[in-house]
Amino acid sequence: MERVETAEALRQRITRWRQAGQRIALVPTMGNLHAGHLALVDRARGLAQRVVVSIFVNPTQFGPGEDFEVYPRTPEADCAALAERGADLVFLPPVAVMYPAGAPGAVRVEVSGPLTEGLCGASRPGHFSGVATVVTKLFNLVQPDVAIFGQKDYQQLAILRTMVRELAMPIRIVGVETQREADGLALSSRNQYLDPPQRALAPTIHAILSDTAEKLIAGERDYPALEARAGMRLTDAGFAVEYVRIVRADDLKAPEGGEKRLVVAVAAKVGSTRLIDNIEVNISE
Ligand code: PAF
Repeated sequence: MERVETAEALRQRITRWRQAGQRIALVPTMGNLHAGHLALVDRARGLAQRVVVSIFVNPTQFGPGEDFEVYPRTPEADCAALAERGADLVFLPPVAVMYPAGAPGAVRVEVSGPLTEGLCGASRPGHFSGVATVVTKLFNLVQPDVAIFGQKDYQQLAILRTMVRELAMPIRIVGVETQREADGLALSSRNQYLDPPQRALAPTIHAILSDTAEKLIAGERDYPALEARAGMRLTDAGFAVEYVRIVRADDLKAPEGGEKRLVVAVAAKVGSTRLIDNIEVNISE
């Protein structure tokens, strides 16, 4: 596995592969890789002959007071895990490669409308614009045929699908199911911020999501009541709830009735750690 840091070195490898007619998959990450990221790499290997993983803690998607400075950076362990998993190349650009004019940069990509305004967009202004901007840059640098993202960041995935479609980027976006601990907690680099009592509490999010999904499958349709009940249970358990929302899976808007695919999404803090999770619900009646 090769490690490159510059756009020139990256392009050299990409050009060689393209000339050989090989398909390229990109797995964009911020590093500190866990089994969730490695599942994305596994999926990428099934979709293309070459797998590129980028590791870049993107400053423009963190708001003031968020954890950009302390976000765990573990490039050596990440590269060892990726080599073992069969990635072909790791791209570890410094900020100057991703933001030649200096962060936040001279150009921003903005996906506007309800998709970015609700859920995490409401409490993290600028976050999704930072994500769309850095992912566009990564797409331009790597020129992948396919890019793989985790479904834990459900809203991010929906926004990137829209971005690719609207900007006519010839890239297939593939979402991979959330990987979980045995007790249901969604894998996340931020789980390591949790102290033992907080870690013991954290799987409650998945338990309440699953319970809400079961109620939807059983035919309950009073969405505000279901959201309120789930929110209350999380608050009672000790979380500071940011939102519990039931939305349509395709456009993340409030359901109007008759939808077959819904998502229940949660953002809640335990101590100072903000956790997100979601569950897709397919209604078959
Ligand atoms: O999901 C992430 O880790 C990040 O938002 C991404 C897509 C790598 C962009 O920085």
